[in-house]
Amino acid sequence: MLLTVLLLLPGCRCNESPGVAVRQTLPHYAEFDGLVAASWRGKVDLARTAGRDLTEGAPTEWEGGQDAAAKVGAALGFLQMAESTDEVADAVAAASLGCGKCHMAAGVGSPAPPPPWTHEHAAEHVVYGLVWTAPLGPPPGGEPPLDALAQAWNEPVVLDSASQVDERSIRAGRVIATCAECHQKR
Ligand code: HEC
Ligand code: HEC
Repeated sequence: MLLTVLLLLPGCRCNESPGVAVRQTLPHYAEFDGLVAASWRGKVDLARTAGRDLTEGAPTEWEGGQDAAAKVGAALGFLQMAESTDEVADAVAAASLGCGKCHMAAGVGSPAPPPPWTHEHAAEHVVYGLVWTAPLGPPPGGEPPLDALAQAWNEPVVLDSASQVDERSIRAGRVIATCAECHQKR
């Protein structure tokens, strides 16, 4: 907590207590994990509802983070019009990228270690990489379905200069979409 307060100081209006800013920022996007689960399970309607509810939890009080919060908001807005599991996956990855931009700018680190790069945790792993700007490489491959995830990850990425996303978030979106191909039917 002390570290968080120190990190907040450069942006503070110094006649205010920095502790107030911390309380205003947390919790934010509290149900994001539920959205991630809906995305890899291929539950499009559930993901849309989760995205709508999340927009109300944005950390608006963080000075200097408006641009990143707007990126998250735009991705959640896109999500509400998503009709396919691919679109949901892309929206979740784009939102995660926005989270990461603010955390990076604010110098905030994750409170937890990354989930492992395994079949069951791969979606959470790639999202973690974006939300916390953590190292993110291809899955280990090997036995199914990790081979399918590795194949999705390794397809070349073509970005145009106007793109709002980066290569990592495109690959992360593909991994989540690949989970949904199998899990939507379950
Ligand atoms: C506008 C800035 C901003 C955006 C956007 C943002 N965060 Fe944060 N987040 C912070 C700050 C600042 C902290 C550090 C704690 C604090 O000061 O409230 C934090 C901390 C956290 C924590 C750690 C909480 C804890 O228990 O220590 C989680 C989890 C988190 N954010 C999730 C997310 C997710 C998921 C998203 C995107 C959907 C997101 N955040 C988007 C600013 C942001
Ligand atoms: C090629 C098909 C396939 C792909 C791709 C796939 N899975 Fe699975 N998954 C399965 C099968 C089959 C099972 C075991 C049977 C069951 O429990 O439904 C399973 C079980 C699971 C389980 C434990 C049971 C449950 O439903 O909670 C989790 C968690 C899981 N997968 C997560 C993922 C995630 C996350 C991804 C993407 C990163 C993914 N899977 C990609 C086929 C797949």
